[in-house]
Amino acid sequence: MLHYQFFTLFLWSFLRLLKVSTRKRKKFAKENRAKTDELVSADSEGNGGWGDDDPSVFLMTIGTRLQGDYQLTNGYGPIKAPQIMKEHYSTYIVENDFEFISKNGLDAVRIPVGWWIASDPTPPKPYVGGSLIALDKAFQWARKYGIKVILDLHAAPGSQNGFEHSSSRDGFVEWGQTDDSIKETVDVIDFLTARYAKNPSLFAVQLINEPLASGVSLETVTKFYRAGYDAVRKHSQTAYVVLADRLGSGNVKELFPLASELSKPVVDVHYYNLYSSIFDNLTVEQNIEYVYNNRTRELNDILTANDAPLILIGEWVAEWQVRDATKEDYQRYADAQLKVFGRATFGWAYWTLKNVNRYWSMEWMINNGYIKL
Ligand SMILES: *[C@@H]1O[C@H](CO)[C@@H](O)[C@H](O)[C@H]1NC(C)=O
Ligand SMILES: *[C@@H]1O[C@H](CO)[C@@H](O)[C@H](O)[C@H]1NC(C)=O
Repeated sequence: MLHYQFFTLFLWSFLRLLKVSTRKRKKFAKENRAKTDELVSADSEGNGGWGDDDPSVFLMTIGTRLQGDYQLTNGYGPIKAPQIMKEHYSTYIVENDFEFISKNGLDAVRIPVGWWIASDPTPPKPYVGGSLIALDKAFQWARKYGIKVILDLHAAPGSQNGFEHSSSRDGFVEWGQTDDSIKETVDVIDFLTARYAKNPSLFAVQLINEPLASGVSLETVTKFYRAGYDAVRKHSQTAYVVLADRLGSGNVKELFPLASELSKPVVDVHYYNLYSSIFDNLTVEQNIEYVYNNRTRELNDILTANDAPLILIGEWVAEWQVRDATKEDYQRYADAQLKVFGRATFGWAYWTLKNVNRYWSMEWMINNGYIKL
């Protein structure tokens, strides 16, 4: 909950973009792209046409899609970014937040971190130092208030899903394409587990968040999961190891055979009534019914599988595409999700604790009586 508070509202439009223009993006990938940490170029001469297959023709959107730690620090630059991030780290999540969590019936936090935390205080440009100290503090407070921590590697080098929450430079999925990027990621897991293994609050290590199925094969992620699992076990026999479902795989159970070979495995799934056109025109009642019926069916299917590991619903939110919903509507919608997701065998995590959008903020929802635990 420290870094990536602004889970994108633009995810869906981005998914669509990925879908319609795969061919164009492949071309774009070869000839126009981020070449270094500071340079994005569009230097293809193209073929003289205006067709979708011409790499000199592409859509560039700045301001909505280009978000996340990379854009933030790169955008502010080497003088201003460290000041802004320092201010953010020291004021955004503070000890009071852990007190709030413990007083309101929550017993764990899922903390997303970026891969560059392992080279703090001097991470590669444009990232700035300070995230490791923030995480150290979070662990101290977690211990003090008896809160469990699920440490979640949310951004892997090269980006595992192209979204801003994995700190993508340019929307591409480059993670996993080389053995180096996998090794580098395993080293981050090794570093983090070694650092916090002795803290009784370290409850679970999530090896990666939301690898995108269209960019990361099951084979690649399996290879990484095996190595990442070994890195955790080098330092901790007790921490659970969380494997994330591939975003868009359509088959959470694809990870079950691998999980059954491991000790204390958990599989993480994310449920949003968002990011798919099936939710576009649903009413309040239809959304709530969807949770009680369709999600229950989906969840039953994975919970009752023969080789089912523990299941974490690592992200959900009481936000939807309904306009002008009343407070009571939100309460019933949140309540439905709490009831259904409460059956997940490893638990659930709300995205997020604090957010500029009130319904995405667990703190606001609790303080204003929308969510009761
Ligand atoms: C939702 O409703 C709008 C307006 O009636 C319509 O244009 C659109 O196609 C609908 N979307 C879906 C996914 O049914
Ligand atoms: C929910 O499940 C029902 C019954 O299988 C199905 O008819 C319906 O289309 C599903 N709802 C949505 C929004 O996909």
